[in-house]
Amino acid sequence: MDFAQGERTAVSSADGMLTEGDLNVSRRRSRWMAEHIDGATRTLIEQDAQFFLHQSLSTPCLNVLRACEGASIEDWESRSILDFHGNAVHQVGYRHPSVIKAVIQQLETLPFCPRRYTNEPAIALAGKLAELAPGTLGKVLFAPGGALAMGMAMKLARLATGRFKTISMWDSFHGASLDTISIGGEALFRQDIGPLLPGTHHVPPPNTADCPFDCGDACSLKCADYLDYVLDKEGDIGAVIAETVRSTPFFPPREYWQKVRAACDRHGALLILDEIPHALGRTGRFFTCEHYDMEPDMIVIGKGLGGGIFPLAALIAREQLDIAGDRALGHYTHEKSPVGCAAALATISVIEEEGLLKHVRELGDWTLGQLRAMQKRQPVIRRVEGMGLIIGVTIGDGRQSVALAEDVMYRALASGLNFKLTMGTTIQLMPALTITQEQMQHALDILEMSIAAAANQVVE
Ligand SMILES: Cc1ncc(COP(=O)(O)O)c(C=O)c1O
Repeated sequence: MDFAQGERTAVSSADGMLTEGDLNVSRRRSRWMAEHIDGATRTLIEQDAQFFLHQSLSTPCLNVLRACEGASIEDWESRSILDFHGNAVHQVGYRHPSVIKAVIQQLETLPFCPRRYTNEPAIALAGKLAELAPGTLGKVLFAPGGALAMGMAMKLARLATGRFKTISMWDSFHGASLDTISIGGEALFRQDIGPLLPGTHHVPPPNTADCPFDCGDACSLKCADYLDYVLDKEGDIGAVIAETVRSTPFFPPREYWQKVRAACDRHGALLILDEIPHALGRTGRFFTCEHYDMEPDMIVIGKGLGGGIFPLAALIAREQLDIAGDRALGHYTHEKSPVGCAAALATISVIEEEGLLKHVRELGDWTLGQLRAMQKRQPVIRRVEGMGLIIGVTIGDGRQSVALAEDVMYRALASGLNFKLTMGTTIQLMPALTITQEQMQHALDILEMSIAAAANQVVE
């Protein structure tokens, strides 16, 4: 049987591919590699391409890393690059000494904990998360990844409500497993791969930049009303599942979550918030929903929870949802990893002791101010948005500017600044939360230089 490339549909057209990130097979990338990658690095990249299954946004890779520290990564040719992507795991920066110390200490005593046993770091971490979480969210389950933790939340919602249907958002991302791509809203992950889970309904997200209700710049909350309408029409939705804010980025107004919370209560649906990339301080609060004065029924966190070292995610649920004692919600081998939990406890201590939440709020505001001033100097910047250290800079006039955005990205990379593109034309700036104002200024200088150079260039 010939397995070569089944028939692909629209996802191979640019739009579907570009929602999550930049392409790993573009002409501009090849050109950049020809100019910036030497023979030794190229050999490693070729070996990577030989041994790994190829997939979008991953293999074939762009470059090879040798080291990382603080807000920076270092490539195989020893070039230091400020990392404003970091897959959102670098809340406390790379290789934070306190996290490394805690991990080494734990490795030397109890690196693994077989099921049936518990361990002190796991108990301490669950207690700490329960203490930090809003209101009655006080029961915790760990998993070795965000998608797995989302899956546990979906199972718990089914068991608690007796309903299997969900409402989630178009353009959202909740992980790459089959259950999470069913609730996710990006074609890149969903097309040609179904059937997906039944009963997974989707509604438009509260994104004024791409609003089917024509809100303009200010959200009219019609999307919240529509969500309420679908809850009403279906009548048996078990859970509404959404990212509190989106890295794209967009930040719903306060009233949005107030309305959605009230609608869930009215229709007997649970509210599950995915804060996997943003909890632990990226917005300037430990949990993002704290900005909205609203309490979900479950929060899922992950990414930097393991200190950027260990894969660790957590489901934090209302105490009343502890109803599945006779079922297995997770049952993952590395569920209560002592090393992961030690890394997480050290990470939370760093956030508290180094005052990172305040730093993020202050530096985030300062950076937004600098970017708005840059927008006046560089009219090709269409939109600047941010909350703490999730910042989006959208350039050009819509889809036709995808090549321009890619040009900016590769120019910045050549000057030592790494970031991701989303939705084709948005530069996503998500640095380590430990970044200094001086490093931020340096990054903004590179960004402006790259934007100005790309805008003055004819981009094909
Ligand atoms: C919002 C969101 N949810 C879920 C996930 C999935 O997490 P993981 O890659 O750990 O499965 C991600 C990862 O990028 C994410 O950004």
